[in-house]
Order: sequence, then C-alpha cells, then structure tokens
Amino acid sequence: MALVLPGFAGCGRVRSANDGSFAFDTLVPGGYEEASTRRAPHLHLQISGRFDRLVTQLFLPGRRDNARDPWFRAALDARLLIPTVRADGADRLVLEWTAVLRRG
Ligand SMILES: [Fe+2]
Repeated sequence: MALVLPGFAGCGRVRSANDGSFAFDTLVPGGYEEASTRRAPHLHLQISGRFDRLVTQLFLPGRRDNARDPWFRAALDARLLIPTVRADGADRLVLEWTAVLRRG
C-alpha cells in the first residue's frame, strides 16, 4: 500500500513571483516501471510563460539510476535536468533549478 499524505493530489500549480521565481513543496518521488524499463525518480514540470511553454522532467541529484533512465539518457545535456541541492536535512530536501523561457 502506498503512503499518501492527506490532501496530497500528486500535482499542483503555482504562479511565479514578478521576478519569475517560484517554489513548491512536494514529496520525494519514487521510480516506477514503464514499458519494461525502470524510470528513475523524477518530477514532471510544465512551465507556461506569456509566449513559451517548457515541459520537462527533473531528476534527483546524486542518484545512480538516473544514468539508466531512458528519458534522462535521451537528453542533449542531462546535467540540465538535475537541480542543485540547497539544503539536505533529515526530513527536507531543498532543490533549486533555473529555467529560461526564451520569449517569456
Ligand atoms: Fe513520470
């Protein structure tokens, strides 16, 4: 049986601040099987600007299974899909990642 927090929908939506920054809290994801391959833990993101939209997946830093993930391996530069660890506590992992929408 999966552990689910009360009120956790598995997805959410957040509006950025005027400087483009945004933040959200979520659970650390787990991996899963997909088409006979094992997906490394990742987060799906869709960022919508006034003109541009970015759909991507972010992977957890320091995980060896990232290198076996087919989506991670297909990236032109997979390093861009790994956020930077800003804090790593006993019950909280804080990650930072920068996205640029070319036309906003
Ligand atoms: Fe996924």
